[in-house]
Amino acid sequence: GKGAAMVTAVAYRLAEHSREIAQTLSEFRLTTEQLLDVKKRMKTEIQNGLSKSTQDSATVKMLPTFVNSTPDGSEHGDFLALDLGGTNFRVLLVKIRSGKRRTVEMHNKIYAIPLEVMQGTGEELFDHIVQCISDFLDYMGMKNARLPLGFTFSFPCRQTSLDAGILVTWTKGFKATDCEGEDVVGLLREAIKRREEFDLDVVAIVNDTVGTMMTCAYEEPTCEIGLIAGTGSNACYMEEMRNIEMIEGDEGRMCVNMEWGAFGDNGCLDDIRTEYDRAVDDLSLNPGKQRYEKMCSGMYLGEIVRNILIDMTKRGFLFRGQISETLKTRGIFETKFLSQIESDMILSGSANCGTNSLLNVAITRVFIVMQVCGVVSHRAGQICGAGMAAVVDKIRENRGLDHLDITVGVDGTLYKLHPHFSGVMIQTVKELAPQCNVNFLLSEDGSGKGAALITAVGCRLRQELNN
Ligand code: GLC
Repeated sequence: GKGAAMVTAVAYRLAEHSREIAQTLSEFRLTTEQLLDVKKRMKTEIQNGLSKSTQDSATVKMLPTFVNSTPDGSEHGDFLALDLGGTNFRVLLVKIRSGKRRTVEMHNKIYAIPLEVMQGTGEELFDHIVQCISDFLDYMGMKNARLPLGFTFSFPCRQTSLDAGILVTWTKGFKATDCEGEDVVGLLREAIKRREEFDLDVVAIVNDTVGTMMTCAYEEPTCEIGLIAGTGSNACYMEEMRNIEMIEGDEGRMCVNMEWGAFGDNGCLDDIRTEYDRAVDDLSLNPGKQRYEKMCSGMYLGEIVRNILIDMTKRGFLFRGQISETLKTRGIFETKFLSQIESDMILSGSANCGTNSLLNVAITRVFIVMQVCGVVSHRAGQICGAGMAAVVDKIRENRGLDHLDITVGVDGTLYKLHPHFSGVMIQTVKELAPQCNVNFLLSEDGSGKGAALITAVGCRLRQELNN
C-alpha cells in the first residue's frame, strides 16, 4: 500500500545519499601509494630545512635547539618550569634527585589564559604569565628563592643558544602582538622586571617536542625522537651536526625542532587536501600556514568534521537541510568530542534496529556523523605516521644502517584521548618504514619535566664554563 511505497521512496533516497556520502568521504582515504608520496615529500622538505642554500625559503624549518645530548641521570636540583602553548598553561616546580635512587617530584598548577590575552598585546600576555608565576610562588611559599627556570614555549623559535629564542611566528590559537621577531626569553625577563616582586634565572627555552623527548630519554636511552599529537602537531629528533648546515661544527648530534606543522605551506600537499581542509585553513587565524598541522592535530580535526557536516546538510543528507546555530559555531567540535563519538561507536556499533525503518533513518544520521569523524581522524593518523616514517628513515640513513631500533617519546591529547589515532599512526609507520622498529613511549607530563631536565643540563654547562 501507500506506506510501503513511502518506505521504498525513503529507502531509495537514502541509497542515493549514501552513494554521494561515500564519494565525499572516499577523498579522505589515502592509499599506501599516496602515503609513500607524503613520506617522500617530507624527506625532501627536511633536506631543504637542513641545507644552507634552501633554508631561507624552507617550509619545514628544522630549528636547532642547542640540546646536544639526552639526559645521563646526573641531573639534579630544584627548578621552575613554565608550559605555554598546549591545552593548558601550567607553572611547575620540579625537584630532580640523582644518584642511586633517581626521583623526579613535581608540583604544578594550571592557569587559564583568556582568549583576549592570547590575542591581545605581547606585554599583556607576558604580564599575565608573570602574574601566574607570582601566584604559584606564593602557593608554594618560595618567593625568595631565585630558582632556575625552564620555559617550555611550544611555538617555532630561532635559537642562538639554550636561553635565547626569537619567535618566528605564532601558531595554533595565539596571536599576541609585538612578539614575532622578538626574543621570547627577553620578553619574559622584562615582564619579571616590570613586576619588581621576585627574581628568576631563565636558563632555557624549550619546545614541547624536545621536553617530551628528554623526559622519555631519561628512562629510555634509545629515545631520540619527540612527537606531539595534541592541539598542534610537531616532532624533533637528534640530527647529525654535520647535516645541520646552519650551525658550526661537525661533531656529534643536536636535537632539531622540525616544526613539521608547516609542511605543505609551499603547496606540496595540495593534491591530498580537500575543499574542507581549504575551508578550515581560510577561516583560521593563520590562513595558508601550518597546512599539515591543520590536517592532523586536535585543534583542527573538529573543524574539518564541522565543515563536512555543513556541506552534507546543505546537500540535504543531514538535519533536514537545516544548518543549526551550533553547527555554524567555529570550534564547537573539540577533540574530546570527536574521541567520544568514535568511542561510542565501538560500544554501540552493533546496534541492531531490525526491520524498523523509521528508527533506521535516525540511526543512519548518527552513523553518518560517526563515519565523518572516523575518516577525518583516520587520515590524521595516516599522514602523521607518514611524516614519522620519513624521520625514522632519515635517522637510519644518517647512521648507514639496514635496520634501526628507535624509541619515540610521545605526548598530546589526540594521541592520548582518541580511540584510534595512535593505532593508525603506529601501523602506518610500520608499513612505510619497514626497516625501522619503532617503539612509541607515552611521556607522562613530558613538557614540564623535560624543561627541568634541560635546565639542569644548562646549569651544569654554565658552571663548567665558569670554573
Ligand atoms: C605547533 C607549534 C610547535 C609545537 C606544536 C605542538 O605546531 O608551532 O612548536 O611543538 O604545535 O604543540
